[in-house]
Amino acid sequence: MNDGPAQSGKVLQHFPGRIIDLKAQPSIPIPSEFLIETGNFCNLRCPFCPTGVGRAGMELGLMSLDAFKTVLTKIEPYAYYLEMMNWGEPFINRCFVEMVALAAGKGIRTNVDSNLSAREFTEDEAERIVRSGLWRIRGSIDGATQESYAHYRRRGKFDRALRNLALLRRVREQLESSTPIIEWQFLINARNYQEIEMAKAMAVERGVDLSFKLMDTWGEDDWRSPFHEMAERGEFNETEWSFSLPRSGTDQFFTPKQRTAQADTFMPELPAGVPSGCAQPFNRMVINWNGKVLPCCMCYGDNFYVGDLLTQSIEEVWYGPELSKSRRFLKHYGPQQQTRSVCETGACALSSKYLGEPDDDVERRNRSVRIFRATAQGKPAAGSGDQSSA
Ligand SMILES: C[S@@+](CC[C@H](N)C(=O)[O-])C[C@H]1O[C@@H](n2cnc3c(N)ncnc32)[C@H](O)[C@@H]1O
Ligand code: SF4
Ligand code: SF4
Repeated sequence: MNDGPAQSGKVLQHFPGRIIDLKAQPSIPIPSEFLIETGNFCNLRCPFCPTGVGRAGMELGLMSLDAFKTVLTKIEPYAYYLEMMNWGEPFINRCFVEMVALAAGKGIRTNVDSNLSAREFTEDEAERIVRSGLWRIRGSIDGATQESYAHYRRRGKFDRALRNLALLRRVREQLESSTPIIEWQFLINARNYQEIEMAKAMAVERGVDLSFKLMDTWGEDDWRSPFHEMAERGEFNETEWSFSLPRSGTDQFFTPKQRTAQADTFMPELPAGVPSGCAQPFNRMVINWNGKVLPCCMCYGDNFYVGDLLTQSIEEVWYGPELSKSRRFLKHYGPQQQTRSVCETGACALSSKYLGEPDDDVERRNRSVRIFRATAQGKPAAGSGDQSSA
């Protein structure tokens, strides 16, 4: 399969802020969504996070401002939305706010999820965050008391995280800015679901948005809450558990780009009977702190790189052999295809669906956690056996 640029079409279409040459539009366009990990250190020890349990499977480091600028220059013509984190705590990188400001200055919508527990923001830092043009900040605060919160957010400081969120909200009001959206994100698990109503009241009191999601428990049943059971019966819909408060002020620090031609989501066609698949290598690019590119945010480790944005062009990476192999594999569900792609290694829980998983709970759980085990040993997940495929 060739994902390279299609040769038909001669029209030049104008989108605000850029010219897009449709002649050069590829069959699978370079995406409008990117994810940049600005550092994979973390102050917390969350038990289901590879960084939290010390099994990142990759070198720890922080992206330098120069590296960020290089990457930004390459993604800017395409980027509409940028997630500024992956599996680390973003505010540990002291250049982080400056990086956000650079991206927002290009009109890119930036989101960051943070444990907000690395340090207490000063007024000055809060002001710089608001003025950076950051589009949204989500504080990961899973509980309404220190006790329930710290079951998952080990080493986290509940009061500090909440204070930081409230401070951002106050400073945003003072500056009369509508950005960033300030959201408390509460991941529901067996140890905190009793505090949902308390969290709602606290969020209103502090004037911050609140969203509830089910924590992914990776097959560990004692972390599952009754809401997980409800979701399985179709009685819990996350979209209905997002509560936004009225926002004030004008958008004075951030002018978003228009959506671009590349913003259409591409879904690989799946055969009948396969309810969902993985579309990440078709729709987003995930960039690690060292400039290297991963096929997705799920497979994490030095063995899974598919390119390097510090040394290659974005076209070389996006249409390069590794991502093409992954796409080829994901587009043709079925038995193993010997594509030697990262995806076919079974590196993540999702890809096991493609490989035909035994209908057995124990096996399913083993596969789900395999990535953590594999990366802990610093080698590819089971089934890969070939370094050149990652
Ligand atoms: C890996 S974290 C990195 C950013 C930051 N350190 C944080 O925790 O917010 C990225 C996102 O994953 C979420 N996350 C962490 N553990 C999770 C789990 N077990 N299930 C679902 N989401 C989880 C976090 O809450 C956050 O929204
Ligand atoms: S705070 Fe985020 S990065 Fe840190 S251990 Fe928890 S989930 Fe992982
Ligand atoms: S490794 Fe898994 S999550 Fe990542 S791109 Fe492949 S199938 Fe998708």
